[in-house]
Amino acid sequence: MKIIRSKAELRAMTEDWRRAGDSIGVVPTMGALHAGHLSLVEAACAATDRVIVTLFVNPKQFNNPEDLAKYPRTEESDAEKLTPYGADVLYVPDGAQMYPEGFATTISVSGVSDGLCGATRPGHFDGVATVVTKLLLQTDADQAFFGEKDYQQLQVVRRIAEDLDLKTRIIGCPTIRESDGLAMSSRNLRLDDRARATAPVIREALSRAAIEIREGVSVETALQSARSRLTDAGMGEIDYLEFRGDPDLAILSTADRPGRIFVAAWLDGVRLIDNVPVHEASQHERRLEPAD
Ligand code: PAF
Repeated sequence: MKIIRSKAELRAMTEDWRRAGDSIGVVPTMGALHAGHLSLVEAACAATDRVIVTLFVNPKQFNNPEDLAKYPRTEESDAEKLTPYGADVLYVPDGAQMYPEGFATTISVSGVSDGLCGATRPGHFDGVATVVTKLLLQTDADQAFFGEKDYQQLQVVRRIAEDLDLKTRIIGCPTIRESDGLAMSSRNLRLDDRARATAPVIREALSRAAIEIREGVSVETALQSARSRLTDAGMGEIDYLEFRGDPDLAILSTADRPGRIFVAAWLDGVRLIDNVPVHEASQHERRLEPAD
C-alpha cells in the first residue's frame, strides 16, 4: 500500500488507473482505524479494482476545539492495520492540501442535516459535507463506503451525491459492534474501564425500545423507558434520543413507516452515538424477543 500526501500525486495515480480501465473505491476516515473501518475497506476491495483509504482529521467538522485536540492520531498503526486488506493507497493530505490559503467554499445540506447531531453540533455537517465532497472529487471514486453507525452522515452524503450529480455511488455498510453490543468507534478508546463496562447499555436501550415499538408500545413510552434505562445505568447527559423516518430523518411520533431510533449521549466526558432500525429486528433483538 502506497502512502500519498499530495493531491497532484493522487491525481497522477487515479489517471493511470483510469487508463487501465480500473474502477475506484474510496473509504473516507479520520484514522484511529478499528474493525468498523476495516469492514468498509473489505467491502470496497470486494467491489472495486482499486481502493483508496483517506485519513484526514478534518478540523471543519469539529465544533469543539477540545474534541479536535483529543482526536487520536495514529497514522503508523493505521497503515499497519490496513496492510492485510489489499487497499492500494492510503491518502493522507495535510490541512494545506485540503484547505489552501483563500479556501472559501462550504457545502451545506439542509433537511437531513438539521436535527440530531446537526442540532447539537452546529456546523458539524457543513464540515463533513465539504470535506467528503472534496475527497470524492480528489479520489475520482466510482463508489464510496460509509458505516451506518453514522447514519445521519450517510444520508447527508447520499444527498450531496444526488444533488451535485456526482458520479460516485454511496454505499452504506452495517454497524460493526463489539461482542457486548457497543458500536465500534474511535471514541471508545477514551473510555476508562468503568465507563467501557457501562457503554453497552446504549445498544441495549435502543434494541429494547425497538422491540417495544414493534410490539405496539407507543413511541413516546418506548423512548421514555430507553431514557430511564440509560440514566439508571449511569449514562450522563443525553443530547437526543429520537425516532426518525428512514431515509428522510423526519421526526416520527408513530411507527407507521420505517424508521430508526437515534441516540447521542455522554459518558465519562465522551460523546457516543448509535442507532437501530425499528422495522427489522436484529439478530440480537430476536434473541431478546419472547418466543411465540
Ligand atoms: O466518519 C468520519 O470518519 C468522517 O466524518 C469522514 C466521513 C471521514 C469525514 O471527515
